[in-house]
Amino acid sequence: MNRANFLKMSALAGTAFTVLPSKVVFGSPNSKLSIGIIGTGLRGQELLRLSLQRNDTDVTAICDIQQVMIESALRLFDKAGKPKPEIYDNGDYAYRELLARKDIDAVIIATPWEWHFPMAMDAMDAGKHVGCEVMMGSTVDEHWEVVKKAEATGLQYMMLENVCYRRDVMAVLQIVRQNIFGELIHLQGGYQHDLREVKFNDGQQPYGGGAEFGEKGFSEAQWRTQHSVDRNGDLYPTHGIGPLSKMLQIHNGNRYTSLVSMASKARGLHEYIVKVGGKDHPNAKIDFKLGDVVTTMISTANGESILLQHDTNLPRPYSLGFRVQGTKGLWMDINKSIHIEEVSKPHRWEETKDWFEKFDHPLWQKYAEEAQGAGHGGMDFFVVNAFIEAVKRNEPTPISVYDSAAWSVITPLSEASIANGCNAIEFPDFTKGKWKSAKDIFAIGDDY
Ligand SMILES: NC(=O)c1ccc[n+]([C@@H]2O[C@H](COP(=O)([O-])OP(=O)(O)OC[C@H]3O[C@@H](n4cnc5c(N)ncnc54)[C@H](O)[C@@H]3O)[C@@H](O)[C@H]2O)c1
Repeated sequence: MNRANFLKMSALAGTAFTVLPSKVVFGSPNSKLSIGIIGTGLRGQELLRLSLQRNDTDVTAICDIQQVMIESALRLFDKAGKPKPEIYDNGDYAYRELLARKDIDAVIIATPWEWHFPMAMDAMDAGKHVGCEVMMGSTVDEHWEVVKKAEATGLQYMMLENVCYRRDVMAVLQIVRQNIFGELIHLQGGYQHDLREVKFNDGQQPYGGGAEFGEKGFSEAQWRTQHSVDRNGDLYPTHGIGPLSKMLQIHNGNRYTSLVSMASKARGLHEYIVKVGGKDHPNAKIDFKLGDVVTTMISTANGESILLQHDTNLPRPYSLGFRVQGTKGLWMDINKSIHIEEVSKPHRWEETKDWFEKFDHPLWQKYAEEAQGAGHGGMDFFVVNAFIEAVKRNEPTPISVYDSAAWSVITPLSEASIANGCNAIEFPDFTKGKWKSAKDIFAIGDDY
């Protein structure tokens, strides 16, 4: 069954709970969407580039507060042969002028984390659907406010969690859906990426990172490092928890029930600053609050356990550290290995290659060519495609506002757990019970 039929049937059966826009009319795949992009830094530029490649999307306005980023964004319009957008660059709240435009249907927000909440709230107040980069808000209350705003306005809010669309992760989702791991028992994931020197150089942009951050930094170093000074928790849980949630059927008969976090001591950033800037560098005096490795455990209503790790301030190769384990076998991404009882040799790992070819998701089979060259090995194409297709058809986004809130709220919950001596914290149910009966609409078939 394709996705449109599935959605229609779910709606008819009264089981789809994701909020539909106020005029519940299934739009057409041929509709055209006008979007504005708020934040045209490095991430915003990739989301812009992907939007400009499409025939069903006009990017009519962009907003940023740094000329260097606006200029890079404008070059993308030239490259794509698309008309230049209206530019909003007059201060921190210039985005509200963009939102006041009547011709914009949806916005993509790719600004620093602390801006996501006010921008998304203002956008929905202005009647725009929201595709927001990862992290919904800073506090638990802010997450509730976004959920309530989406419900009250009937607008879509989708977190643009791209790892849900990684090719190997989607193959594993197919394997889970066919019950080949058996009943799921324990899952792991996280964000394990050496970000000590957030830098960039394409020949035109300055280098950033090193021992500098804040005003002297570039791109993420301007704002992200400050979170390591001020906060102690899992600051970036969604790349791990997003894909795992779809495998666990979270909000489709399952939900997160409680969470506990623990942080190690913080040494990595200080040692790095001393190494590259010298012990007398002013930043060598900073007392970083964020533990180098933050470990979070989450329980679910259906009895699975989840372990998440945040590890961005120590030397290490990149890995999201996935592990998906059931009663009949498991997958781990670190050594690209799978083991299925009575299929694999006893006690031996198998290479994943043949499995992933066999269970390649229909979306990847259909769009692999279009996705080529898109960021993060192609997965960025799919997340942009999903947001734009859903909004233009007036269908619920495959990552709902409830999903987005549950994945992102892990940050303030983990901060609270660590601050209170690693105690267990109850997980909020943003769906208010609707998780029990809602049907899974994520990546069903090969539509989007
Ligand atoms: N999903 C992914 O794989 C992925 C990858 C990278 C970044 N991100 C996320 O994307 C977001 C942006 O990250 P980035 O790497 O592009 O950072 P960045 O610093 O390069 O870009 C952020 C941009 O927002 C602009 N900005 C700040 N305040 C603003 C305001 N008030 N109004 C308008 N513009 C404003 C900045 O000038 C900057 O250009 C973050 O939430 C980050 O976590 C996601």
